[in-house]
Amino acid sequence: MIDIKNITKKFGKNISLNNVTTRFNGGDSIALMGANGAGKTTLIRMILGYYHANNGTITVNGLDPIKERVEILKHVSFVPQLPPPIKLSVDELLHFVQKSSCTSREMIYHYVNEMSLDIKEHLHKSFFSLSGGMKQKLLIGISAAKESSIYIYDEPTANLDPRARENFYKILKEQSNSSISLFVTHRIEEVKDLVNREIYMDLGEIISDVKL
Ligand SMILES: Nc1ncnc2c1ncn2[C@@H]1O[C@H](COP(=O)(O)OP(=O)(O)OP(=O)(O)O)[C@@H](O)[C@H]1O
Ligand SMILES: [Mg+2]
Repeated sequence: MIDIKNITKKFGKNISLNNVTTRFNGGDSIALMGANGAGKTTLIRMILGYYHANNGTITVNGLDPIKERVEILKHVSFVPQLPPPIKLSVDELLHFVQKSSCTSREMIYHYVNEMSLDIKEHLHKSFFSLSGGMKQKLLIGISAAKESSIYIYDEPTANLDPRARENFYKILKEQSNSSISLFVTHRIEEVKDLVNREIYMDLGEIISDVKL
């Protein structure tokens, strides 16, 4: 469970989250929407313990995202809006993922393959040198292969071609529905079949939260 209570986050004088309160429970599959700059990514980063709040509290499975970040991240699969600047080769990255989160390399290959990418042909390339879509597919494959209680996808299909996008949604449908899934998206029609809750943000506030 993710419990967000009265969270305010400011960057200088700019209020990115304004007294946000909500709760995400197991089984919730949420489309998180709203205009550019509404605060969606900031909310996700607060959940993942990237930032200190100016006010309010967040708990993730009862834990504090900043103090107990390592423990929380064991149970979270996260695909960020922009791929991180990883300096490892693909092979080294997969090795690291396998060791740090007990994720099977075969499962990662399987999921990446589902999105029509044979990552085995690119093992010796640096992650940095992959195309935007290839990075995205690899990160999605890693997060899908990891068994988590929380899946967070911040606009994961932005760089994907239409077919890969379709296959991505197919993969998600196979995932356990007792987990929490949070999708940031600007295309509600794409996730309609996958979600049971729609949340809209604007100017750092939740302006609508509808259970479907
Ligand atoms: N690290 C940061 N430093 C300063 N300001 C930030 C930072 N992160 C976010 N902001 C500001 O917070 C506001 C919300 O940004 P955020 O990235 O959360 O929006 P978003 O809803 O994810 O938008 P998008 O749809 O464009 O991804 C914006 O005004 C942004 O400039
Ligand atoms: Mg964002």
